[in-house]
This record gives sequence, structure tokens and C-alpha cells, in this order.
Amino acid sequence: MLIRRAKQEDYCVFAAIEADCPGYPSWGANGFAAEETNRNSVTLAAEFEGAVAGFVNFWILRPQVQLNSLAVRGDMRRRGTAAALLGKTLEYARKNACTAVDLEVSELNSPAIAFYLKQGFEVVGKRPKFYNNTETALLMRKTL
Ligand SMILES: CC(C)(COP(=O)(O)OP(=O)(O)OC[C@H]1O[C@@H](n2cnc3c(N)ncnc32)[C@H](O)[C@@H]1OP(=O)(O)O)[C@@H](O)C(=O)NCCC(=O)NCCS
Repeated sequence: MLIRRAKQEDYCVFAAIEADCPGYPSWGANGFAAEETNRNSVTLAAEFEGAVAGFVNFWILRPQVQLNSLAVRGDMRRRGTAAALLGKTLEYARKNACTAVDLEVSELNSPAIAFYLKQGFEVVGKRPKFYNNTETALLMRKTL
């Protein structure tokens, strides 16, 4: 598994991965492209056998990293792809003197919540009606 900086030609693949995640907020290829103009934004791709298996986007907002989006292709899940993407995110966080990684996740997204708990995140708050004015978001944090 190779974790590398995302390139423009990856964005359509990222958009297809998002589109295949029901209920997942999607940026679309243009949204990923727009992130290139944000100097705090980092997008990484996970590549396996020459194909994109997943991505992560985060903002370095010292002293925090805000993890905005993390998704793995359906047929590549439960093989450590998200863990590898998060591991690289933590490396960026530490190199940039960040002391915590923050994110929001729908309280209905039990696979993602299980993943983040396994990775040492804690629930530190809730935002009612955060998604589509209905679903509650859990605020999760990993302290570094
Ligand atoms: C959440 C997600 C990123 C996990 O990716 P992944 O590559 O499968 O995760 P990893 O293989 O690195 O980690 C697997 C661990 O996460 C947890 N996990 C992942 N999917 C799970 C599921 N369906 N049910 C329960 N636990 C799950 C488990 O702890 C699992 O460990 P195990 O396989 O030993 O039981 C992936 O399911 C996904 O892309 N979901 C759709 C997009 C999304 O919801 N992103 C997060 C939004 S904040």
C-alpha cells in the first residue's frame, strides 16, 4: 500500500468512491480540485497495485488537524487502508506541531465510529442536526 499526495487525475476516482458511500457528504471532483487553493489543505491517496483504494483530506490548523474526509473503496475495506491513510495524517500532524486530530462523524455511521475508536479517538461532543438538518454528528478527537 502506497500513501502519496493526491494528483488531479485522482479526483474523479475519489468522487466515485464517495458516490458509492450512501449518505456520505460528497465533494465531487471539483471540490477536491478546489482544495488545491487552500494552503492548509492536504489530500492523500492510498494506492494498491496501481489503483486508487481510498483517500483522506485534512486541514492543518495548528494546533489541531481537522480531518474532513476519509473513505475507502468498498472492495478494499477491512484491510488496513484507512489505518494507513490515518497513520500518514498523524505523521503530518506531528511534523506540523499539532497536538490533536478532530473530526465529525454521523452517529449512524457505526463502521467509521468503530474505526476511529480503534484508532484511539474519543467522543468529545455532539452536534445535533449537523447532517441534512437531521443526523447528529459526534465530535471525535485523538490527542497526540
Ligand atoms: C470507515 C472506513 C474509512 C474504514 O476503512 P477500512 O479501510 O475498512 O478500515 P481499516 O481496514 O483500516 O480498519 C478496520 C477496522 O475499523 C473498524 N471497522 C471498519 N469497518 C467496520 C464495520 N463495517 N463494522 C465494524 N467495525 C468496522 C474495525 O475496528 C476494523 O478492524 P477489524 O477489521 O480488525 O475488525 C470505511 O468503512 C469507509 O470508507 N466508509 C465509508 C466512508 C466513511 O464513512 N468515512 C468516514 C467518515 S468520517
